[in-house]
Amino acid sequence: MALSNHENSGFLTQDPGMLALLQMAGKIAVTEVTALIQGESGTGKEVLAKFIHQHSRRANRPLVSINCGAIQETLLLSELFGHEKGAFTGAVVQKKGLVELADGGTLFLDEIGEMGLEAQAKLLRFLQEGEILRVGGKAPIRVDVRILSATNKDLETQVKNGKFREDLYYRINTVTLRLSPLRKRPNDIPLFVERFLHSGTRSQVQGITPKAMELMKRYPWPGNVRELQNTIERFKILVDSESISENDIPFNVKNPENETDYFDSSTNFLLAQVEKKHILRVLTFFKGNKTKAANAMGITVKTLYNKLAQYNEEPPPSLGASSPAPVAN
Ligand SMILES: Nc1ncnc2c1ncn2[C@@H]1O[C@H](COP(=O)(O)OP(=O)(O)OP(=O)(O)O)[C@@H](O)[C@H]1O
Ligand SMILES: [Mg+2]
Repeated sequence: MALSNHENSGFLTQDPGMLALLQMAGKIAVTEVTALIQGESGTGKEVLAKFIHQHSRRANRPLVSINCGAIQETLLLSELFGHEKGAFTGAVVQKKGLVELADGGTLFLDEIGEMGLEAQAKLLRFLQEGEILRVGGKAPIRVDVRILSATNKDLETQVKNGKFREDLYYRINTVTLRLSPLRKRPNDIPLFVERFLHSGTRSQVQGITPKAMELMKRYPWPGNVRELQNTIERFKILVDSESISENDIPFNVKNPENETDYFDSSTNFLLAQVEKKHILRVLTFFKGNKTKAANAMGITVKTLYNKLAQYNEEPPPSLGASSPAPVAN
């Protein structure tokens, strides 16, 4: 399937990697294969699932979504597969499950990594047999459903840890589609800003200054497209002029390093480590010129040399005569 116009696809992007992914999504959409969509929160997993459904032969049948992480397992089982009257306390009437409701269409299992082992076993059975049993039911019911799933977890690790069945993993994952985080595709940011300014809440705000856009592109958007969308919606309410300017950009966007989730489990908290990283970055910025780098950091060239010696780092080759020979301790 050829997708030349990203605007028409409902899935907005101009990033080459994401356009290639979209082409692939278009190709698999017309087949019956199961696809696993991976990506950080807010990267557009649900948008991609809709895209695949809409480009499939099932497009005029239902797309039914369920968030497997939001409900407790026994409830999930009856939501997915339905139940017979009297199957458990409170099952006063017979109820069809979402799998049955999606018959002929697509079932989107969001946060599939959160699914418990019993539900996984039942889902696997359905994928193998094409039949379901309602909770408390005896007669299998044939259902024709295409499964798409999404996760922001690393399912392979879950498989290794025994939290996710390996056989199910291979069943739901004929193809994996990986959405990049927004920080890896900053050129999509202007597209989204344009889209979100002119959809949703009406507002007098019509544009953004180049400087403000630069700040928006530099911010790493840990909440991805959803965070960007919420930020634009706030601008539309709070900004009093036609254009968003530098002064309207919130402090946390201007100063990403002040983000509370700046750290993660892999962060090295040692001050010395942060200092080393900073010094090497500053040196790179000044193309290895140690005098300029030391001046900029407010330390003497001798101190800089001593620090580099401590790190066991070869000082980057200096440009010009501004750097003296190494100084002994
Ligand atoms: N490529 C895109 N084109 C248009 N809108 C997008 C795109 N990606 C994300 N969005 C918008 O960003 C928001 C978040 O997208 P979505 O709900 O698909 O993310 P998600 O990956 O499913 O997030 P979560 O893991 O938190 O469920 C939605 O409002 C969606 O419309
Ligand atoms: Mg989602």
